[in-house]
Amino acid sequence: MSTLGTLFRVTLFGESHGPGVGAVVEGVPAGLTVDMEAMKRELARRRPGQSKVTTQRKEEDEPEFLAGVAHGAATGAPVTIFIRNTDVDSRPYDATKDLPRPGHADFTAWAKWGIARDHRGGGPFSARTTAPLVAAGAIARQMLAGVRIAAHVVEIAGIEVPHEVAFDQIGKAEANPVRCADAKTAELMEHAITRARTDGDSVGGIVEVRAEGLPAGWGGPGADGLESELARALLAIPACRGVEFGAGFRAARMKGSEHNDAFDVDKAGHVTTRTNHAGGILGGISTGMPLVARVAFKPTSSLPRKQDTVNLATMKPAVVETKGRHDPCVVPRAVPIVEACVAVVLADAKLRAAAERR
Ligand SMILES: Cc1cc2nc3c(=O)[nH]c(=O)nc-3n(C[C@H](O)[C@H](O)[C@H](O)COP(=O)(O)O)c2cc1C
Repeated sequence: MSTLGTLFRVTLFGESHGPGVGAVVEGVPAGLTVDMEAMKRELARRRPGQSKVTTQRKEEDEPEFLAGVAHGAATGAPVTIFIRNTDVDSRPYDATKDLPRPGHADFTAWAKWGIARDHRGGGPFSARTTAPLVAAGAIARQMLAGVRIAAHVVEIAGIEVPHEVAFDQIGKAEANPVRCADAKTAELMEHAITRARTDGDSVGGIVEVRAEGLPAGWGGPGADGLESELARALLAIPACRGVEFGAGFRAARMKGSEHNDAFDVDKAGHVTTRTNHAGGILGGISTGMPLVARVAFKPTSSLPRKQDTVNLATMKPAVVETKGRHDPCVVPRAVPIVEACVAVVLADAKLRAAAERR
């Protein structure tokens, strides 16, 4: 259904209101101890129903290994993870089966698959499929000893963190429901989400992710490069609308003399750069500087208010009002998903870099 990576390869499957969702993870080194506690911690960070700014759907997200793990360690066979759907209420979706929600994938699923599609809860387009991605990300993190990956929310509803946050401070974001490391901005963001929910509306925002400790030389030129692979993985997150690296779109407004990162040598004899407008990637290859990406998410499309649509059974204008449980803002819950994407892509880049040097 959806595959990321070459040597470390993650294939996701499942639907929101089917029996469950899962991942087949290939390339896990035989003998790697699978840290279940770490995996459960990551899944808990993604889980809905934990705060008033997320959907009230409550899932246990208990991962089961169907293959590839024995006695707590990877066997070398593909690791197959299954997470059952336990809190499924499909009733609200039956009344609106022929009424595509504006902004959601209901219409395009119908255009592609017709009446065979699973309309319940967004089917395969639901963010539910990101639960096994997060589980795979936990395995990837174990394969990335020495690399630290952390993300936090830097913008919601146009409210931005006014300054750069130090890497070690990003973890503080977990202390508040919007997952923004700047406590003052977090309060304003939370207020904006609550107001949107009260108004029967939704808001979007931006997650910033950083990875430190990766060496120079991972990745490659062209479509196999780190930027391309990361963008592919991140853009596949439901509701993701854009990805930028380093100075990103701001680079288009800078002069070369401002944008270029001058090279230097640190005390350990490693080549570094004095600035990091490149976001840690040049020519699709890691520079050894922190990898920095910002990932933009649109406002949630399902709204508890009337929206104009078309009845696909009669082809007549109609009105749809969403009754299910929805996130008024997906951005805080996207934080561990963004981190998982980066971990999966970097674990693959690490294996490929090692294979290419042989
Ligand atoms: C963590 C997370 C939670 C989401 N929750 C919802 C939700 O409750 N309601 C909704 O309509 N969309 C939600 N989405 C977004 C939809 O799944 C997505 O907009 C839809 O599948 C269409 O895909 P696209 O926006 O990428 O084009 C969520 C996305 C993420 C990342």
